Amino acid sequence: MHALVIGGTGMLRAATVGVSGRGYVVSALSRRERRLERVVAEAPGEVDTYSLDYREADALTEAIDTATAARGAVTMVLAWIHGSATEAPLAIARQVAKGRTIRYLHVRGSAAADPSNKGAGPRAAFEGLPGICYEEIILGFVRGRSRARWLTHSEISAGVLGVVDAPALRTIVGVVSPWDARP
Ligand SMILES: NC(=O)c1ccc[n+]([C@@H]2O[C@H](COP(=O)([O-])OP(=O)(O)OC[C@H]3O[C@@H](n4cnc5c(N)ncnc54)[C@H](OP(=O)(O)O)[C@@H]3O)[C@@H](O)[C@H]2O)c1
Repeated sequence: MHALVIGGTGMLRAATVGVSGRGYVVSALSRRERRLERVVAEAPGEVDTYSLDYREADALTEAIDTATAARGAVTMVLAWIHGSATEAPLAIARQVAKGRTIRYLHVRGSAAADPSNKGAGPRAAFEGLPGICYEEIILGFVRGRSRARWLTHSEISAGVLGVVDAPALRTIVGVVSPWDARP
């Protein structure tokens, strides 16, 4: 099993380590080498690191090709990609889709659940690719008695690992309603 983890060295660090603990060989891709090395140090299994900016399409393509050549076909993608790289999530899916079943866990910010956003969302584009099983994970917030707060890193990583363990088409970590109650 080969997991390609993009943007997994920040709030998702524990999730990346957890994916390794579940028996995946991990190819971790983000910019800062020190943070990547921290994942390598904490992970129980093998982690290859690719230090690059995912907004650079050619570098991204080359890294995925290298990872595939080194570790075999990607079986799961875990992607947390900022809106500054609009093309990257689907470009990655296109590159890894070869007709075999591939889980694509797409972590998205709470704006993905904004009820004023009437767009169809990215699911259809992903599901149009051969073999891609698209699993959307939306990060919500936590409601308290008097006020709401954003999720902690550990809540976010635990929520993501819950999906790794139990595939689901759409998961909300925390809550997104009532929308007006968000922090
Ligand atoms: N609903 C919620 O509760 C919610 C939702 C979203 C965010 N948040 C919070 O917001 C905070 C900030 O989120 P964040 O995404 O900035 O933090 P983050 O998860 O700490 O960082 C984003 C990840 O993507 C990588 N990355 C960022 N830009 C990249 C690029 N251009 N190319 C390649 N890799 C890139 C980062 O590593 P490098 O910087 O080394 O590249 C890191 O691995 C989080 O700490 C989280 O608590 C909360």
